[in-house]
Amino acid sequence: MSNHQEPGFPPLEEGGSERASPVQALQPLLVLISDSQETAMRVNSMMTHVAKIHVLPFKVVGGMLAKVAEIAPRAVIVDFCEATRDEAVAVSAQLRFGRPDTPLVALGRSDSGADALAALRSNVSEFLDVRAQPSEVMTVLKHLFTRSGTHSGRGQTIAIFGARSGVGVSTFATNLACCMRSLGGRSAQILLMDLGLPVADSAILLGGKKAFNFVELAKVLDRVDPLFLESALSKTQDGIATLPLPDNVAELRDITPSIAVGLIDRMRIFFDVQIIDLGGFTNLEFAVMVASQCSRTLLLTEQSATSIVSANAVAGALQSAGVSARLVVNKHDSTLAPSAQKISERLDLPLLGVLPERRQVLVHALNQGHPLFQAQPNDAYSRAVRKIGWELSPFDDALERDMSPLSVSSLLEKVLRRKRPAGASAT
Ligand SMILES: Nc1ncnc2c1ncn2[C@@H]1O[C@H](COP(=O)(O)OP(=O)(O)O)[C@@H](O)[C@H]1O
Ligand SMILES: [Mg+2]
Repeated sequence: MSNHQEPGFPPLEEGGSERASPVQALQPLLVLISDSQETAMRVNSMMTHVAKIHVLPFKVVGGMLAKVAEIAPRAVIVDFCEATRDEAVAVSAQLRFGRPDTPLVALGRSDSGADALAALRSNVSEFLDVRAQPSEVMTVLKHLFTRSGTHSGRGQTIAIFGARSGVGVSTFATNLACCMRSLGGRSAQILLMDLGLPVADSAILLGGKKAFNFVELAKVLDRVDPLFLESALSKTQDGIATLPLPDNVAELRDITPSIAVGLIDRMRIFFDVQIIDLGGFTNLEFAVMVASQCSRTLLLTEQSATSIVSANAVAGALQSAGVSARLVVNKHDSTLAPSAQKISERLDLPLLGVLPERRQVLVHALNQGHPLFQAQPNDAYSRAVRKIGWELSPFDDALERDMSPLSVSSLLEKVLRRKRPAGASAT
């Protein structure tokens, strides 16, 4: 077993090889927070062949959140024994808040009411008896990982490309963000990451004051937690968080694609849906790399030959990187050829949807300061956005999950969504 130790903790096993065997490499890494070496040894032996354990004392240099973020374990086990129960309660609260995605397991004696009660109050995911048999440990971990893996639709990432500047990516991205918010209910956390050019169109389209930009946030990624994000991200009146590029795009040179991907990955924890506007982004290679880490990729085109030729180039770049994108034909006019279906065949991209030509109402809504989806939810454009939103929505269990009072319209929307024809699968 590979045991990682904090300074001050003597090694639990003497003379072990530093290199993990292939089997060990597949074992999940867990953090155990305990000041007791005896407990550490006991957990270590009960986890043999099951998980790798990294032991941390309750007091760690640099703070527990930073340390756990650095280790990135699949779960954290907290020792709720009497000697350090207060510390266990405090550290659990800290982790619940700062790393809500990391499951917490309380370790204690199941015959001690005080251990169980403190654990229960700390809202841990599982309770593990300090004298558990390996089979019980397996059961607890299985519960934990199955639940944390399917626990919600949290973390959907949707990258949106445009064939070329002006095809309507920012307009679509902002309306899709409003749609997701209405599908997910009031507790839905939506982030519109506006990496499109010109800079910060989303701020004009959605409103919202200036706050952190993409580069600033990428540079402080280690400090990001829900409290920090609350003040760092601009939020629209409707509760959609936005993150634009810096005014001076040259600042992006400090950001590598892997940093960008790291940021998006980190944001998955905090947001149910991230919509990433890549319309007009000049570094196609960078944008494709970002898309390769996203759960969905869409490409918008118009019906004009110039737009279709550009779309073909973007589709080719995505295909070479192994990214499967879906097509959206915007400003669609059914009296014009080629049809959306023909474009889809020519580009060899499955057609996700069609957004009608609605320039007048879109510009009017924009000039009034409201995305069309909000201003006129029944307009043909809004209905088309909703249809696409249904396809991409991770909120399959929204009705059960969001117990907050819902407006009649959003309730109706959810009921209608449940009645949509089967087979409407997402990409
Ligand atoms: N479906 C549509 N019908 C008509 N005009 C549209 C449609 N979608 C977007 N537009 C218009 O196209 C222009 C460019 O849109 P924008 O979203 O800024 O494009 P991009 O972000 O791709 O550069 C805007 O004037 C917008 O109102
Ligand atoms: Mg744009």
